[in-house]
Amino acid sequence: MAEPIRVVVTGAAGQIAYSLLYMIARGEVFGKDQPLVLHLLDIPPMMGVLEGVVMELADCALPLLRQVIPTADPAVAFKDVAAAFLVGAMPRKEGMERKDLLSANVKIFKAQGQAIDQHARKDIKVLVVGNPANTNALVCSHYAPSIPRENFTAMTRLDQNRATAQIAAKLGVPISAVKNVVIWGNHSSTQFPDPSNGVAEVNGTSKRVWDAVNDAAFLQGNFVETVQKRGAAVIAARKMSSAMSAAKAACDHMHDWWHGTAPGQFVSMGVISDGSYGAPKDVVFSFPVETSNGKWKIVQGLQLDDFAKSKLAITGKELEEEKGEAMAVCSAD
Ligand code: NAI
Repeated sequence: MAEPIRVVVTGAAGQIAYSLLYMIARGEVFGKDQPLVLHLLDIPPMMGVLEGVVMELADCALPLLRQVIPTADPAVAFKDVAAAFLVGAMPRKEGMERKDLLSANVKIFKAQGQAIDQHARKDIKVLVVGNPANTNALVCSHYAPSIPRENFTAMTRLDQNRATAQIAAKLGVPISAVKNVVIWGNHSSTQFPDPSNGVAEVNGTSKRVWDAVNDAAFLQGNFVETVQKRGAAVIAARKMSSAMSAAKAACDHMHDWWHGTAPGQFVSMGVISDGSYGAPKDVVFSFPVETSNGKWKIVQGLQLDDFAKSKLAITGKELEEEKGEAMAVCSAD
């Protein structure tokens, strides 16, 4: 069996981590023959809760899990890690403006970027889940200059999974029959869920999602809004934010980055933008990507109509504004 790899999950005492840790420790991300040492980072007041999570992980009796290291010290948490799930962030409190949340959270990701730079493996793969995920990933990368920018990504896979589920339900086909419905831009309400390059298997025939659904008003209206507002709908119903589906999406993202995508399969990842498709450069923008040998590549040559282009412009502008605000907070610090 392979040597164990070290994997860190931040926000380890929180809701998403409670589902995520079990999935990782069962081998659903790095493989059923890859032993793991799990590093669990949270803040000092949460150490008691984290102790309970450690007890439960032990009680799961998971063969791949060789050691669990709970800590409030980023230097310990990031030491020699090969993969990081950066979930921990301050939740939005009542009366808090988006700007206040951004300012609190980018400081966390600045400090964690510095700790990654100093302590992690240079080939670490970082997935940022904590919001604002795209801009946090950018900040984290900025403060870890010894690690390639390509190694920092943000999660938009939950949005892709939501979009895929909506299309599958509309067509009455299983999830596995729908492919390449993707998310562009920011993990926020300006994101653009785009079915125009999607493919669906319906009654044994492969069709473009656009033709199979055959309802432009739905695809450009209700579908887009449902995906954009799904997080809020879950909170309204559950009185808590989406945690199980976020954990599953984090596993999907890291799994596909680690192991590679199937030929012709696109997945959505927030990655450092090279300006493809007219997106602003040097922000973390969600693109359709293909992965192999642990590296992602933006899918090129897709057609964007005027509707799509206008949506990309809106979400790109928001990311540039967030970047400006975040860098101002970091440099004033
Ligand atoms: P939660 O509030 O249950 O857990 C967050 C945990 O992070 C807490 O245990 C908290 O103590 C910890 N934390 C805070 N500051 C920290 C720091 N400096 N270092 C380490 N840990 C720290 O929240 P939940 O539901 O687990 O969500 C976590 C984040 O994920 C939120 O920012 C949420 O908005 C985001 N999210 C992102 C999604 C995406 O698609 N990208 C989807 C769903 C949630």
